[in-house]
Formats: sequence, C-alpha cells, structure tokens
Amino acid sequence: MTMWHYDDPTDGLLHVTIERADKPVNAFSKQALDDLAKLVTHVRNDKSIEAVVFRSEKPGNFIAGADVEEMKDLPGADAAREVSRYGQQVFADLEALDAKTICLISGACLGGGLEFALACDYRLADDTSKTKIGLPEVMLGLIPGWGGTVRLPKTIGLVDALPMILSGQQLTGPRAKRKGVVHDCVPTEALPFAAERIVQTIRAKGSADSLFRTRKKPLATRWINSVGFLKSYAIGQAEKQTLKATKGKYPAPVEAIRALRAGLQSEQEGYAAENTAIAELSQHPVTTELMRVFFLSEAAKKPPEWFTAEVDVDAVENAAVIGAGAMGAGIAQLLARKGVWTRLKDIKPEFVANGMKVLRDLVGKDLKRKKLTKTKATAVLDHVSPTTDYNGLKHADVIVEAIVENIDVKRSVFCELAAASNDKTVLATNTSSLLVKEIAEGVPHPERVVGLHFFNPPHKMPLVEIVKTDETSPEAIATAFAVVKKLGKTGVVVGDCAGFLVNRLLSPYMNEAGFLLTEVEDPMEIEKAAVDFGMPMGPLELTDLVGAHVAAHVAGNMHAAYGSRMEPAPLWAELRAAGDAKGDTKLVVKSKKGKSLTGTAMRVVEKNRKPKVSRPTRDEIVERLIYPVVNEAAICLDEGVAEKAEDVDLAMIFGTGFAPFRGGPMRYADSVGLANIVTKLEQLAQEHPRLAPSDALRAAADRGSFLEPLTTNGPTAGAA
Ligand code: NAI
Repeated sequence: MTMWHYDDPTDGLLHVTIERADKPVNAFSKQALDDLAKLVTHVRNDKSIEAVVFRSEKPGNFIAGADVEEMKDLPGADAAREVSRYGQQVFADLEALDAKTICLISGACLGGGLEFALACDYRLADDTSKTKIGLPEVMLGLIPGWGGTVRLPKTIGLVDALPMILSGQQLTGPRAKRKGVVHDCVPTEALPFAAERIVQTIRAKGSADSLFRTRKKPLATRWINSVGFLKSYAIGQAEKQTLKATKGKYPAPVEAIRALRAGLQSEQEGYAAENTAIAELSQHPVTTELMRVFFLSEAAKKPPEWFTAEVDVDAVENAAVIGAGAMGAGIAQLLARKGVWTRLKDIKPEFVANGMKVLRDLVGKDLKRKKLTKTKATAVLDHVSPTTDYNGLKHADVIVEAIVENIDVKRSVFCELAAASNDKTVLATNTSSLLVKEIAEGVPHPERVVGLHFFNPPHKMPLVEIVKTDETSPEAIATAFAVVKKLGKTGVVVGDCAGFLVNRLLSPYMNEAGFLLTEVEDPMEIEKAAVDFGMPMGPLELTDLVGAHVAAHVAGNMHAAYGSRMEPAPLWAELRAAGDAKGDTKLVVKSKKGKSLTGTAMRVVEKNRKPKVSRPTRDEIVERLIYPVVNEAAICLDEGVAEKAEDVDLAMIFGTGFAPFRGGPMRYADSVGLANIVTKLEQLAQEHPRLAPSDALRAAADRGSFLEPLTTNGPTAGAA
C-alpha cells in the first residue's frame, strides 16, 4: 500500500498526495522509501514534469517521521546502518531532480518528514497549532539519520540548527519561517495558491527564490554560521552544555554532535557519521528504553482495553474551572488554548482577577516567545469568561474543580455544581490528597464524579492521572479521557487511594531522605545520588519545590493511609520548626560553590546526626530511595491502583521525570532483579523496619519480573 498517490502530470505539474491508508499517521517505512524512490525515478524520466507539489491528505499530519515500529524490529546494527544509508540515497536523488519540488506542510512534519522536506526545493507551512516542524530523534535515543544533520545546518545555519538537532526543539509554521526552515508561512487555505505562485515564477524565471526574502540573522550568528573555526567552537560549546544537561546518560545528542562535527569536514563525512551513529544507537540500551517510553505514551492515547465507552474529543466544547488559583488558572488556560469555552470561577472578584492575571501572563509569555500568534492569543483569552457565579454551567460538558484542599468545602461545592450543571456534566476534581469517592459522597449522580489530577505547573507537566472510584461511570471516564487527549496530555487511569499513584510512590522516596539526612556525612550526597541515578532533582530540592508544609501535610496523609511504612522521618518536623522560626523553611541553597543545606537546616541535621562508623555509600542511598518506590508500586499493582506495570513506568516518567533512560521504576527493578531487591530490603529492614519488602513484591519476585522482557534490539538497561 503506497504512501505516494499521483496521476499524470498536468501542464508540467505533478501533484503528489501523501497518505498512508494503513496507519493513523504518515510515516516512512521501507515500503514508503521504495515507493518514493520509484516516484523520483518516474519524475527523472518524464522530462515533461517541471515541478512536483507534495501535500498530505492526513489532517494534522504531513509526515510524522520514520516508522518507529519498523525501526524497533530491525534485526541489528547493520540493518539500521542500511536504513540510514538507503534513506540518504533516496533523499539525495530527490534533491538532485531537475524538476522543482515543493512541500505544502500542514500538520506534523517531524524527523524523517522534515529531512524529506529539506531535500525538496521549496517548503511552505501553514500557521495552525497542529503544524510542528522539527527533528525529535534524540527523544527516541536516535539522531536524524537521513541527512538532517547535514541539510538543516546548511539550510538555516549551525546556530539555529543546534537546538533543533540536540534537544528536539519543534517549531510552529511562523517560527519555522523566521528561522528559515520553511520559505513561507500562510493560512492553510492559501497553501495551494502559494504553491501555484512558486510554479508560475519558476516558469517565468527558472527559480522562485526571488519570491522569498530570508530574514537577516544577527551579525554574531552570521559570523558563527560562516567561519570554520567559529563553527567548531559553537559545536564545542553545545557539546559542553549537552553533557551538562544530560549528565552523560544519553548517548544520542553526543552522537549528533559527532555527526555535526564530521559534517563540517564534508557532507560525505557527515552522512557517513550519521550511518555509524544510527547503527550504534540502534543497539544501545538507552535507545531501547526511550523507544519503549514512546510506545507506552502512544498506547496511552487510547483508553485501556477494558474500556468500551466512546472517547469523543470533539464533544468537549464547554467547560468550567472552579477555583482560580495556581492550578485552576493553569487548567483554564490549557482548555481555552484548545478552543474550549471555559468559565473560570472563584468566590471573590479579586481572586478571579488574580487567576485571569496568571492566565494572561501564561499567554503573554508564549506570545513573546512566538509560540502563539497575536490572533491566537486573543482567541485564547476570548474563550475564558471570569465569573463568581454558577451561571452557564448547564452547558458545561465538564467541570474541573481546583479549590482549596478541604473535604467539607469540596463536598458542598460538588453538591452546588451538581445542581448548577446538567445531568450529563462530568464533575472532575483536581484534588491531590483527598479521596475522590469522599468528595462524591452525597452528590446526586456520583457516577459522574471523576478525578483529573493535573501536576504542577499544569501547562508544563505532561501527565494527568484519571482517578476512577468504584462508582465512576465509563462515560465519565471517557469524558475525562477526552479532556486529557484534547489538552495533548498523557492520561493514566488510576485507582482512588491516598496520593493516587504518583504521589503515593514518591512519598517513601521523599521521606527516606529525612532519615538519610541523619546518617550521611554530607547532606548533598543524597541529592547527588538521586540526580546521578537519573532523577531530575534530589528529594531535598523537591521538598523545597513542593513546600515544607505541603510536603508535611501529604506525608501525614500517607502515614494515616498506609501506616508504619510511611511514617514521616522525625527530622522533618524539627527542620520545619527551625525554618519557621527563621521565617524560611527552604532546605537547599545554591551558591557559586554549588548546592548546600541552609545554615539553619545544617544545624538541625548536625544536632541529630547519628554517630556511625560506616556511612551509606551512594549506591546504598539509591537503594534506600528507590527500592521503597518499587515496593510501593508492587502493592499498587496488587491493589489495582495501577492496572499494569507499564502504567507505573509511564506515570512516574511523565509525572516525576523518573530516569527515562532506565525506563521507569518497573523496568529498573526488573533490570536489578526483583529477588535482589527483596533481599536488600530484608537486610535494610533489620535496622529500618519500614523498609521491609511487601508480600506483593515477594510475589512479583517469585513470578520473576514485573514486565515481559523487551523484544527490541540490544541488551536491556543495566543496573545502577
Ligand atoms: P490555590 O490556593 O492556589 O487556589 C485555590 C483557589 O480556590 C483560590 O483562589 C480560592 O479562592 C478558590 N476557592 C476556594 N473556595 C472556593 C469555592 N467555594 N469556589 C470557588 N473557588 C474557591 O490552590 P491550588 O494550588 O491551585 O490547588 C487547588 C487544588 O488543586 C487543590 O485541591 C490542590 O490539592 C490541587 N492540586 C494542587 C497542586 C499544586 O501543586 N498546587 C498539584 C495538583 C493538585
């Protein structure tokens, strides 16, 4: 089944429609490359063809990249090298055609899709929010292997190409035009006319280059882009930054730098370096893990298998957000951005005004960063109506409650919401520590109450936990799913328990840091061990981010719900009291010398430090922080709070940034060996009974592993 559809040329013009009928997105498979090679030969042989116009028939999708399913199943390094080499060859043949080639980009033009477009003569993009242009291969542990590391710097200059290649930065149509990735950006309906103009100009002048004025880049950028040793210097700087950001855990950006450096010598060397990098990376365990995370997040776009109710994203048109605080304003902004008419309610006009300011600031920031056009920014603000009453809620498809974390207030607000809305309106709570079923108590039709647990800040965090109670109806879950999907987030369905899934698993991790503080020589050892393991920050810094009092509140809830294994470390209360006395409960300060504990916190720690001959090593710190997470996850799986181990990995990676290169806590646990974790926890429990392995973990260890071994190439990720 071909991806390229065309008839005979008319008047020297060949229209090619790109559409893979067998997949939801257009993606380059081997077959698609073969067919493109045939098309290129056809155009080369038919001298009557003066120009070829490529456009996609898939809404929201030009070409999303290489077929990752196929990549995953490649039999080895040589096969991967060959895929890279073959794609380069086909694109080089496309580039060498005498006929002019024009791409009309509407929707995702990513990875191999952009490498294809870069091999064409002219690229036009539209200005819709669905149009995203970039090279996200590093996110999958790969690099652009079809000439992207050579053609992108050649097209837009090294300075702008570096962030696109090394961090997978994606551009909207207008930004792509400013950077010179595309020649022009026009409204979707204008794309065919703009193409027609290019064709006419080519006919008249032999080239359409005169139609486009390239924006002059700043002088320094032009220098760096054109002077050999400055290019080498820029790559060197990028390498340093990359190593700092990835802490040496991710090989793909390093390989991309190698390819870029080779490309400075000659294009051929650049292409050869791409081949080598793809061959090596295809076998790398980190690539295996990152690809798995990609597949998990793709799978999470569909509701769980047991789920039968229809998820209709388009049916979510009207919403209300109750509570215009940090979370409410952020959630309202997300909804409005997706064209959902949203009422934002708080109890007093000044509170609503505060929420609107937060919302306007978020929109303003994106406007400044050119992530939104002025028209779009105005449209977002037009979609939000601030209010202090419940008028209009009868039309709401969904209401998201984000008010104070107090069960009595929430219950009474939910009863009011039930009365003010219609029977079908789904009532969602963003509570982080209360039980959804308790909030739903006494609410007429409790089956429409569901949890939609966004993470802070909601505009940045990709995960939303969809919390179902025993009563939540499939229709309510379907609407919750539709909201999450509409907002472009990843949803994981979890059970209704204290902390739900992510905060419950994070609790022992954060709490253990409080015990460790009295045992280690240097408190920053805890942070270093966690960060070195692959967490985005250490537990002490995370406590600061959450706020000492919020963390204490959560810890108290967890203790009440789960008993002694979540007993808060006594040091926390002392640290908080000392911080309160000083008016600042922060634990960690940053200085030129690096991070350290605040003087106040250090004094408390020193006073409580256990006299001990042997201090925990880094590996032991990791075991103490991470194994309890694994233990708790086993219990969550046993209780059905998480449906499957894959959900735990996805939720922890997207909700907390848990070491993606390790594949999440379940993959990590399997790589260490569950029996080893049980043995270690048994040893630790002799001194620290809270760390005893659960029956659920023992049972999982008896079964062997949480997950099936991966069938992807290469060995699985190693232990810490
Ligand atoms: P916040 O204190 O910033 O905002 C709460 C807002 O709700 C305030 O503006 C308040 O005036 C308003 N409010 C109180 N009673 C109301 C009522 N009856 N009707 C309408 N508005 C009312 O709180 P934040 O941080 O935005 O949290 C809101 C909810 O989101 C809480 O349930 C919290 O547990 C949850 N949450 C918070 C996260 C965080 O990190 N801040 C993360 C995830 C969930």
